[in-house]
Amino acid sequence: MKKSSIIHHPSSITLNIPTKVGIFDSGAGGLTVVKSLMEHGLFDEIVYYGDTARVPYGTKDPATITRYALEALEFFKNFDIDLLVTACNSVSAHAIPELRANAGFPVYGVIEPGILALENAGLPHSSRILVLGTRATVGSGRYQRGIKELGFENLQALSPSLFVPLVEEGIFEGAILKSTLDYYFKEIPSPDAIILGCTHFPLIADAIRDYFPNRPLLIHSGEAIAQHLERNGCKPGITEETKLTIFASENPDALKQIAKKWL
Ligand code: DGL
Repeated sequence: MKKSSIIHHPSSITLNIPTKVGIFDSGAGGLTVVKSLMEHGLFDEIVYYGDTARVPYGTKDPATITRYALEALEFFKNFDIDLLVTACNSVSAHAIPELRANAGFPVYGVIEPGILALENAGLPHSSRILVLGTRATVGSGRYQRGIKELGFENLQALSPSLFVPLVEEGIFEGAILKSTLDYYFKEIPSPDAIILGCTHFPLIADAIRDYFPNRPLLIHSGEAIAQHLERNGCKPGITEETKLTIFASENPDALKQIAKKWL
């Protein structure tokens, strides 16, 4: 029997509110999603698993990413979770159907919520949209297809691969970051909105936004999935203190140290 809070409403409808979520990422980056879920107070308990031994996923092919994701799913089956969120955009781009077919509990990716967050922002369809993600995410075309279906035609997708190691090094500002931003962005016109389609990019969100003089709207996977879960039955503020347990395929202590810094 799954652990969940049972809320009795006056109308005598009984709702089961999920209280324990599994968060999966290729490494540390998914902690940005953990942070948003904690800020929204959506879950009593978060079980986080980062596949630190095999990060990055964003440079790997779809079959490898799917195999790794299915292995992580087996790990989560030990924890009686109510639902699983794949914080990793690269996994969300390639492995959601396979995860859903094998999970036995709901599985959410972050791409659909990111696209819905753009829709909810209410920008005119003439707006210029920039999608940033790993090679695996951008190569899947998932964001691009979804955004075009919303009616946005003025769209560009980029894989600024050097952002991931910079964030892993804790470089969130300064000259190295500035010249890396220049390297990727100097030729492109200022976007009106940017999809931060990689777990690591929220940590350099300010630098990305400030690079462009018009300070574009940023869509952050963590915020997008938190709002999406709220629309799908999770209740904000069910807890003020979320219990977080962190697992990693290699060096969990290093991941716990990063969590202390980032959260
Ligand atoms: N977590 C990955 C993502 O959001 C970024 C890091 C990686 O390449 O594994 O796509």
